Amino acid sequence: MALAEFLEQLNQLAAEATALFDAADDAEQLEAARVEILGAKSGRFKATQKLMGAVDGSDRPAAGKRLNEVKSEIEASFKTAQDRMTSGGSAGGAPVQFDPTLPGLKPQIGRLHPITQTIEELMDIMGRLGFTAADGPEIEDERHNFEALNIPREHPARDPLDNFYLSTAQKQHEVLLLRSQTSTVQIRVMESTPPPIRIISLGRVYRPDTADATHYPMFHQMEGLLIDRHVTMADLKSVLRLFARSYLGADVHIRFRPSFFPFTEPSVEADFSWNQGWVEFGGAGMVDPNVLRAVGYDPEEVTGFAFGLGVERLCMRRHGITDIREIYKNDVRFLQQF
Ligand code: PHE
Repeated sequence: MALAEFLEQLNQLAAEATALFDAADDAEQLEAARVEILGAKSGRFKATQKLMGAVDGSDRPAAGKRLNEVKSEIEASFKTAQDRMTSGGSAGGAPVQFDPTLPGLKPQIGRLHPITQTIEELMDIMGRLGFTAADGPEIEDERHNFEALNIPREHPARDPLDNFYLSTAQKQHEVLLLRSQTSTVQIRVMESTPPPIRIISLGRVYRPDTADATHYPMFHQMEGLLIDRHVTMADLKSVLRLFARSYLGADVHIRFRPSFFPFTEPSVEADFSWNQGWVEFGGAGMVDPNVLRAVGYDPEEVTGFAFGLGVERLCMRRHGITDIREIYKNDVRFLQQF
């Protein structure tokens, strides 16, 4: 008998044996399968083993080696099937060994990332103020990241050095980029929904900044947008103050400094008081009429405010974290503290 033919038979036997063991539903069927394959007198393994006598003498060492391997394989798949029976409950077999007096193994409980925890809490606070969460893509086109937000082509905010433009998309004449602000979601929501609007959007934004204690090329913003009749700057200040007091405590004060954003007019920089000083938390303002027009709203009918706050900053203030890079190092010794 040729070696190849013998090896072929062995391989087939191994495959069939595994299939047979796997198909056994209870201990009785498994035992029948074991006898059929591994039975000492008339098992199929024994029969194949006998064929080895017919293999050419010089090929016998190779045949014997493979024979031993196949035997181990078959025994292993029998053992697997047997384990399945004993651990699988109803199928009978030997009961699982279990000593109730041994001390238990305490499972290691994971926890949510501090930024995830912050996001959940912010959504909760803003939810109580009547804001629902909206979402948008992290890969954006120029219309949503710039144009509809009143940021024209020549504006410095569109500089390739300040944005992550995607080079593959440019080749197909469609310019895409990783969104640099969550204000994109304002446009997406207003495009698809008539006023009134009261949403927040929490998500990642990307800017090619070198990472240092206060910068990271990816961070999170909480965008807020409220559009209705007769909305004023006072409403903006009230909402931000209520938010700040809920998140940072009743003794927090809030201050507006005049600022500029292309999509709000007037625009402010919002600061929260902290340890006798002021900390910048983000930008805000009354939505520019050009933006309302770009999404088909009538600025004579409705007005609104928008704000964009840095989530990491809020989280860092709250927990006394002094270096943003700690948040993304994934060092469990750091993460376990939250
Ligand atoms: N999008 C602005 C930024 O990223 C923040 C902002 C949002 C300002 C909404 C005004 C209104 O800096």
